[in-house]
Amino acid sequence: MRKNRDKPEQLSSYSAISSYYFAMRSSLNRIENEMTPLPRELTGYLAPDGFLPELTREVGDGVLRLGRLVLCPGPAVDAAWAQNVWHSPRVIAFESIAQAANALKGLGRRWALYDEHLRNRGRAKLIQERLSGPSPKSFRFGTTTPNSPLGSWTLLDDRTLLASARCSSPFAHGDIQFLEDKTGPPSRAYLKLWEVFTLLGQSPKPGQLCLDLGSSPGGWTWVLQKLGARVISVDKAPLAPGLANLEGVDFRVESAFAQRPEKIGPVDWLFSDVICYPHRLLSLVTQWLEAGAAKNYVCTIKFQGETDFETIDRFRAIPNSRLLHLAHNKHELTWVWGKG
Ligand SMILES: C[S@@+](CC[C@H](N)C(=O)[O-])C[C@H]1O[C@@H](n2cnc3c(N)ncnc32)[C@H](O)[C@@H]1O
Repeated sequence: MRKNRDKPEQLSSYSAISSYYFAMRSSLNRIENEMTPLPRELTGYLAPDGFLPELTREVGDGVLRLGRLVLCPGPAVDAAWAQNVWHSPRVIAFESIAQAANALKGLGRRWALYDEHLRNRGRAKLIQERLSGPSPKSFRFGTTTPNSPLGSWTLLDDRTLLASARCSSPFAHGDIQFLEDKTGPPSRAYLKLWEVFTLLGQSPKPGQLCLDLGSSPGGWTWVLQKLGARVISVDKAPLAPGLANLEGVDFRVESAFAQRPEKIGPVDWLFSDVICYPHRLLSLVTQWLEAGAAKNYVCTIKFQGETDFETIDRFRAIPNSRLLHLAHNKHELTWVWGKG
């Protein structure tokens, strides 16, 4: 039984989720075995909209699922399909809105409310109104990312909240919204590069040589040229008018797969946004890695129909690489490799 308390009680994840579990188990259908002891340490993984099956394949079904947030036992594992990771979330019992807000303020300064799975959002919104939230403005590419941590929280019921003060993304739910350039780039694909450079905290420097494969209509080439890099831009289709003539852009109407390291020579960055089967991209990348011909890679792995988990695992196994599902990725992952 819940007692009246002057201060909200911060229960350990284990005991609180246990109590919550026993109170709510009749309404939960995600717990496979009711007798399974609950974990002492939890991690929450938030799937990008529409990609919960991909995420649960990586992290498992977890002990509790709230919409597209999956709570799993143990510390965080590397999960490409997690758009945000809630480290060590806590369960906090509270009696009033003020108490809940104070409890969250005690844990962290800025909070994002995750409420899309809640049937009634009113109480959660009243709590969130008392907190400092994520920056509401769109993020301007090239400016410093918010460096104060952004926590995430949600309601388990109207007197229990779940909160992680330590999330992997500084953007609410990992969803970075840029102040878009509606006139310069010829397609919205440029947002993927803006996002990856923002997350990496690194981008091509003026004068560096970039190979942009599958570049048409030219969003990525536009980003790279704007950064002052030199770009060998390759596609079978033409670039949008004006882009091929920009200073530093060398556009070639050729196949991406005909670009051999021995022909092009060493590059600082290799980019690929080519529409092709994942295994074809893997062969291309392997060829360049074996030749040691590129210092950094940013490549979109595009899935047609079913997600190709086998090839994902082969990309994942490449040392020093990362796999990300960007907020601007569709049915794709972005593979990133750097010499560090
Ligand atoms: C998603 S679009 C690239 C968008 C581009 N990154 C941008 O920012 O505008 C994919 C491109 O891959 C190109 N492509 C497909 N197969 C190719 C190949 N074998 N060689 C070169 N380009 C190819 C297509 O012509 C298409 O322009």
